[in-house]
Amino acid sequence: MKIISSPLELKNYLKNQNASIGFVPTMGALHEGHISLMKRAKEENDILVVSIFLNPTQFLKGEDLDKYPKKDEADKRICELFGVDVLFFPQVSDIYGSDEASVLAPKVRGFVLEGESRPGHFNGVLTVVMKLLNIVNPTRAYFGKKDAQQLNLISLMTKQFFMDVEIVPVDTVREKDGLALSSRNAYLSKQERAEALKIAASLRAASALVSRGILDADEIIKVMRETLAPLEIFYVEVVNRDFEKISVAQIGNTVILAEVKVGTTRLLDNIWL
Ligand code: PAJ
Repeated sequence: MKIISSPLELKNYLKNQNASIGFVPTMGALHEGHISLMKRAKEENDILVVSIFLNPTQFLKGEDLDKYPKKDEADKRICELFGVDVLFFPQVSDIYGSDEASVLAPKVRGFVLEGESRPGHFNGVLTVVMKLLNIVNPTRAYFGKKDAQQLNLISLMTKQFFMDVEIVPVDTVREKDGLALSSRNAYLSKQERAEALKIAASLRAASALVSRGILDADEIIKVMRETLAPLEIFYVEVVNRDFEKISVAQIGNTVILAEVKVGTTRLLDNIWL
């Protein structure tokens, strides 16, 4: 496995490969969710490139940038084990200068749900993803459905900027008890982890309603909120695949999402109908 920290070096190296490139961008502290993206990218492409970059611009002031879990050595071993060909491991100064152009998230879709509870977060995500895609120039880039709004905004950006990359959505990986894997799960105490199971329980309750033919969004949201109590709720919402709120869920065109605070940790999850 090649480890490269310089964007220009990586760009030059990949330019000469004449092969399909699968790309998995991450912020590190790798877990089974990241690994499933890597496996899928490995299967579908000649070369697998993974980036590990804790992107400062997507964290708001006072968020967990400074305490975000760092596991550089374990991450490198995981990448090696799962057949990563090139690991891109840049420093902040390799990616950002002092006075720069940046990408702005769409004014509506980028500032609802996660974008409303973390205003400006998606500007940082889209800016770094634009930079990473321009550096790697992949055939396909893989993103988790767990971060459904992020996935939607990245797909939208690549279309709207006429970028030459296929964005591939990958299903959410969960623990046996239903908790969606997340680097932030490392923050949870034993008791908080038990409380966090309410998120998956609320989504199961939602899907039970849907399978009984109850598609009314208010009804679904009410039952989910009851299941989540007494956790602090940032949002519980029923949207279509374009992230517009809808009043009736439609099979094949709906995402049901929840974001809550467990202790001091923000956790999100969703199901796709
Ligand atoms: P990070 O949180 O490290 O996630 C990297 C990728 O892994 C994202 O596409 C995310 O959706 C996916 N992922 C996380 N947990 C998952 C799970 N349980 N199952 C399946 N996929 C999962 O998302 C980011 O980093 C950053 O915002 C990034 C896109 C790298 C830009 O900085």
